[in-house]
Amino acid sequence: MSAMVDVTFTLNGHTTSLAVAVHDSALTTLRDRLDHAGAKLACGEGECGACTIIVDDISVNACLMPAPDLDGRIVRTVEGLWEGDGLSKVQDAFVRHGAVQCGFCTPGMVMQATHLLEQQPEMSDAEVRRGLEGNTCRCTGYSKIVAAVMEVSRDAATKTAEAAE
Ligand code: FES
Ligand code: FES
Repeated sequence: MSAMVDVTFTLNGHTTSLAVAVHDSALTTLRDRLDHAGAKLACGEGECGACTIIVDDISVNACLMPAPDLDGRIVRTVEGLWEGDGLSKVQDAFVRHGAVQCGFCTPGMVMQATHLLEQQPEMSDAEVRRGLEGNTCRCTGYSKIVAAVMEVSRDAATKTAEAAE
């Protein structure tokens, strides 16, 4: 039996405490222990981004993050993106642009897009593509995903311009 450590962290705004095995990943802890299965396990090697979560405002591949490192962190997953009673702006744009097909990449893609937009609300097409490089989609060809993120980015630019008038 592997050693266990106690961790306490904030998960989508809620203080969460549990004992984790030292060899567990944040991803398996979220999915199997905390009923947060939005982040997906695909490659398990940090290559595909399906498991992307936001930890202390940094996007992280949860499959590579040791569960003990959750302690003291502020963790956001796709389950926490709901704004009021509805989808976040990024989720809504993904739906309207048809940026979701099988949906397996979508939670990670949405979290990475959310992170990018938080860091830099106004982006060029090239910046969006570069920011999503670590997230693999085998269905959409990326164009619709980029279009969705660009729409949210353009909205931010419009609001900035309006505020300046
Ligand atoms: S499952 Fe984590 S990067 Fe692929
Ligand atoms: S929608 Fe299927 S992998 Fe992206």
